[in-house]
Amino acid sequence: MELEALEALYAAHVATLRDQMTRALAEAGFDGLLIHSGTPKKRSAFDDQYFPLRPTPELQRWAPLTDADAFLLVIPGDKPVLTWPVNRSFWERPAAPEATFFEDHLDVRREDTPALPTGKRIAFVGEDDATAAKLGLADARNPKALLDALDATRTTKTAYEIACLAEANRRAAWGHEALRRAFASGDKSELDLHLTYLGATRQDDQETPYKNIVAAGRNAAILHHVSYGRDAAKAESLLVDAGATCMGYCSDITRTWARPRGAAGETFTGLVVAMEAMQKRLVDAVRIGMPYEELHDESHRQLSSMLVDAGIAKGSAEEIDRRGVSRAFYPHGLGHSLGLQTHDVGCAVVTPRADNPFLRNTSRIAEGQVFTIEPGLYFIDGLLAGLRRTPEASLVDWNLVEALAPFGGIRIEDDLVVLERGVRNLTREVLPVGGDRV
Ligand code: GLY
Repeated sequence: MELEALEALYAAHVATLRDQMTRALAEAGFDGLLIHSGTPKKRSAFDDQYFPLRPTPELQRWAPLTDADAFLLVIPGDKPVLTWPVNRSFWERPAAPEATFFEDHLDVRREDTPALPTGKRIAFVGEDDATAAKLGLADARNPKALLDALDATRTTKTAYEIACLAEANRRAAWGHEALRRAFASGDKSELDLHLTYLGATRQDDQETPYKNIVAAGRNAAILHHVSYGRDAAKAESLLVDAGATCMGYCSDITRTWARPRGAAGETFTGLVVAMEAMQKRLVDAVRIGMPYEELHDESHRQLSSMLVDAGIAKGSAEEIDRRGVSRAFYPHGLGHSLGLQTHDVGCAVVTPRADNPFLRNTSRIAEGQVFTIEPGLYFIDGLLAGLRRTPEASLVDWNLVEALAPFGGIRIEDDLVVLERGVRNLTREVLPVGGDRV
């Protein structure tokens, strides 16, 4: 993606943001909004090191800055004002923004402190109490009604945001392809693979949307495995869940690869291929107006069939689903909204049913939403030990489970945009295969 293409979409994005903010402020009873990028947090009270700043997402909607103590002031009817301090530190300097076209659409002031209008009710959005207090806005810090209204505006994306998300997918695809090739060509440690991913995507660790999950063999049963092994992984399976960013917008992609050497490896590879087909069916089933939770329930029905077909579960798929057996093999949700945050806001305001405790998207599917579809199947000791203690234990072939446990698990994840008809799969358009033998 050329930056000129993003620039061409940015003016309409800002116009949409200004409309959305005007309505959100009116709903919440404020005259204006001051967004603070944040201040770095200390890693520990016992030393003098700081984490890199994760800027407030609301600020990055307007400008891809990583500077601390930048502010954006939105007053309906006025050009938004960006107060962007000049860095004077001789110790460090924030990264330059990826592009500067935002400067043509905002009133940019290279000053330290925002000038606030008098006589107006201004809300402060940001994490830092002290900054809000210094500006006299301590009592208007993160008002819930306003945050809820702002979150609601983030459930569907503008054309600019979709272009950023598509570019973030393209960048992540370089890394996933590099890891598929590295895994196919020899035994690399998880740490080596993680570093290969960073190199291929031209990202530093702190710039990734979330810590890369690089899990060989049994470690794929740890859903967020980030304690990378240092020894060459001779495993027959590799799960990589990793993304990239563009202008602050995230991609979130998971691929699972198999390198089978024996009978159990062949069975596992069959499961990867079946999961790939299942994930594509779920993508095809996305419909405007459908509750996302219904799609999640459908993923459990399909996984139950898969477990029966593979001989892992005994009985009918209907019974496996109804009696909750699939929940021990697939504990997370089918997916989540995606945007400036990997788990973006606004689509999980309704609590999921009690049997879907980790579902992060309970919205009704709507045009312009961007979300992930990421079904999984894992052999997680703790969950399977729990299942063994229930009457449902008799529905499982435990010898087969034990034979498959060294492969850890499978997850295949794409990022989708909901269109008026069908979806745009941002991931498959740059990374066509979700999982297979390498
Ligand atoms: N891909 C990491 C997560 O969704 O938590």
